[in-house]
Amino acid sequence: MEKKEIRLWYSEYPAMTDLVPEQQEVVRAAEEASKMAYAPYSGFYVGAAVKLENGTIIKGNNQENAAYPSGICAERVAMWSAMANNSGTRIKCIAIVSVAKKTGDIIPVTPCGSCRQALLEYEILQEKPIQVIMYAKKRRVIVFDSIANLLPMQFDGDVLKGS
Ligand code: THU
Repeated sequence: MEKKEIRLWYSEYPAMTDLVPEQQEVVRAAEEASKMAYAPYSGFYVGAAVKLENGTIIKGNNQENAAYPSGICAERVAMWSAMANNSGTRIKCIAIVSVAKKTGDIIPVTPCGSCRQALLEYEILQEKPIQVIMYAKKRRVIVFDSIANLLPMQFDGDVLKGS
């Protein structure tokens, strides 16, 4: 038996203003989207914005339901909307933001496991990494250069081909 190690790489920026203007634009779109989230049960308002290579930005936010499991996260709303309306343009990046409704404060949020898996599907499909931009504690900004980096030991549909 051998113990193995998985290392993950990401970039941390002191503030949103340290990102390049294009990244800031996507973060701002995610912030805007969070304001329209439908989250009456959790009170946790999440916004996501997907930017395509052709410059289009598609927003999404969490949509909850009285039957709790029927709700869905912001990342999947944004990504599925992007894919449902996309004519083949590749996805460049996704930004995820949670804003406290009362104070307007930024709350750190990272994609849940289901979203990571759902997002990974499209990264594999387009054969090009999708950058993930999100806030960490103290408004630091974290950038992962690919979804795969956020999901080590991921389930890849390739294995289904061999079954
Ligand atoms: N949520 C998201 O939309 N994205 C995340 O990355 C984490 C969680 C939503 C789901 C649910 O509506 C609420 O936040 C509380 O879990």
